[in-house]
Amino acid sequence: MTRMSSATIAVIGCGTLGTSIARGILDPTDKGCITVERVITTVATESSKQRVEETLSRHSSRLIVLLKRDNLRAIEDADVVLFAVKPVKRNDVFSTPGVREALRGKLIISIMAGISTQEIIRLALGNDNTSNGPLEVVRAMPNMAAKIREAQTLCTADMDKLSNENFQVATWIFNQVGQAQFVAESSFDISAVLVGCAGSLLLLAIDGLLDAAVAEGVKRSEAQEMTVNSAIGMLKLVPAGEHPGVLREKIASPGGCSIRALLELEKRGVRSAYTAAIMAAAERSKQMSKS
Ligand SMILES: NC(=O)c1ccc[n+]([C@@H]2O[C@H](COP(=O)([O-])OP(=O)(O)OC[C@H]3O[C@@H](n4cnc5c(N)ncnc54)[C@H](OP(=O)(O)O)[C@@H]3O)[C@@H](O)[C@H]2O)c1
Repeated sequence: MTRMSSATIAVIGCGTLGTSIARGILDPTDKGCITVERVITTVATESSKQRVEETLSRHSSRLIVLLKRDNLRAIEDADVVLFAVKPVKRNDVFSTPGVREALRGKLIISIMAGISTQEIIRLALGNDNTSNGPLEVVRAMPNMAAKIREAQTLCTADMDKLSNENFQVATWIFNQVGQAQFVAESSFDISAVLVGCAGSLLLLAIDGLLDAAVAEGVKRSEAQEMTVNSAIGMLKLVPAGEHPGVLREKIASPGGCSIRALLELEKRGVRSAYTAAIMAAAERSKQMSKS
């Protein structure tokens, strides 16, 4: 990416996450290091083109929505290219004639799950592995909470090759949909699993809690509000400095209800089930990165 204060950002594959990110950078919460002059998005189908145009209509003067046949045009016109297609589509995108050449000198960001930075570099270089000098690649893993700007996005890169400017740009982009956090690539798979799956595991727990409330006669909608709000409040105590284990002990007063509930979960192996579930997901993530 050339030095600049304003940038055109291409989002190749403007689906669920791509749209959230495009919205975030078109309507930033902080001014940061760049001004987004234009966002160029691409999608596969005409119906998705209409969806993106409607969803981001407030920003139509700075938004261009194209179909996948124009991926090359989007990349050529951009300073930063964010790949948000499904991983199975990556070869279609990168093998389009001209795409690899157009990527040279640009900041490449990929949110494709399970695709390592090495693989992104391989895709971007093609057979030309003589030089990867101008390629700066950031691999990122946001989650669905990007929709409400609450995503914790993990990022990783070869920090010897990533300029400070591009580090700032990538951080700024994901800060517009929550919070960006750079981690070493060696711990990216397990960290990504935590960011990607932990939420869904906790949602399963919420579902179970709701069933119990309904079985005991509370309306599901009311139970949902009280359960989710109290869980959010309790979870926020953790970043405020409370250790989860200590907090759990504080809640469980002698002879009380919480200790009974907690012991019931321990009896059923719930804690180790969560551990096993994350380790299984981490294993799968490692396989995906290798394949
Ligand atoms: N969803 C998650 O929670 C999550 C979390 C972390 C990472 N990810 C990763 O983020 C990426 C996007 O996920 P998503 O859930 O947003 O997927 P998605 O909603 O299916 O979005 C993918 C988009 O790519 C478009 N597309 C397909 N082929 C294309 C092509 N050749 N050129 C340009 N655009 C093309 C699709 O267009 P149409 O709509 O017209 O089909 C669609 O809009 C994936 O790689 C996924 O692994 C997802």
